[in-house]
Amino acid sequence: MSSLQASMSTSMPQILLSKGSLALLLTSISFSLLVNIYVGLELGLRWASASGPQDVLTPDEIPFPVMVPEAVLKTAPSLNYPVSSDGDRNWTTLVPPLSSGFIYHPRTQQFYSVSLYHQLHCLNALRKYISRGPELRLDDEVVTHTGHCLDYLREALLCHSDTTLEPVHDIIVPPDDRKNTSQHTDKVAQGWNVLHRCKDWAVVRRYLEDNWRSWPPEHRDSK
Ligand SMILES: *[C@@H]1O[C@H](CO)[C@@H](O)[C@H](O)[C@H]1NC(C)=O
Ligand SMILES: *[C@@H]1O[C@H](CO)[C@@H](O)[C@H](O)[C@H]1NC(C)=O
Repeated sequence: MSSLQASMSTSMPQILLSKGSLALLLTSISFSLLVNIYVGLELGLRWASASGPQDVLTPDEIPFPVMVPEAVLKTAPSLNYPVSSDGDRNWTTLVPPLSSGFIYHPRTQQFYSVSLYHQLHCLNALRKYISRGPELRLDDEVVTHTGHCLDYLREALLCHSDTTLEPVHDIIVPPDDRKNTSQHTDKVAQGWNVLHRCKDWAVVRRYLEDNWRSWPPEHRDSK
């Protein structure tokens, strides 16, 4: 119990929500396209790795606004999400484009990040680091962000503790001179073709994109 508490008490992921201003918008018009994109992001919602307010929302206090039905996922390998930069587009579109993974809660009239999409965003950030690590300018921001994502996903996996049982198969391992091992049998779990009980992520995605229409216009406009 104490180690669980210790791992949960590490810095809370936080949302950076900055308000747009007319002055900023007017200034940005005279800048280059790149600067405009950057300012656009600044006006909107994004995930950040900096530490900030330690707000703790108890799970039932502010629930996700709609009921999400159960679903079953059968794991299977996919070629549609390659590690290399060829996969950029498909990985990026895992996060819904209008809402960017955020909701404007109808009851509290506040913005929240939906963990599922923060988690997918973080997995994608790790993928980029793996595929481009050596090319990336390893400035503090990239390193901090990657470290944040690694920590954030570690805690997400611990929290969900998926106890689905995966079959174990025997495989014959050929002799390996470099490791100084002779032929033997190993027991391995591959993880594919296993049914997991989960929540219907298509319902979650649909809700977020519908919810985007209820956002205060200054946040919708920054898309
Ligand atoms: C992206 O996903 C689509 C299916 O949604 C697939 O046809 C396409 O090959 C994928 N792209 C890559 C680079 O794998
Ligand atoms: C390789 O394994 C054999 C038998 O298990 C052992 O006698 C030998 O010292 C090992 N060689 C190395 C380099 O570890």
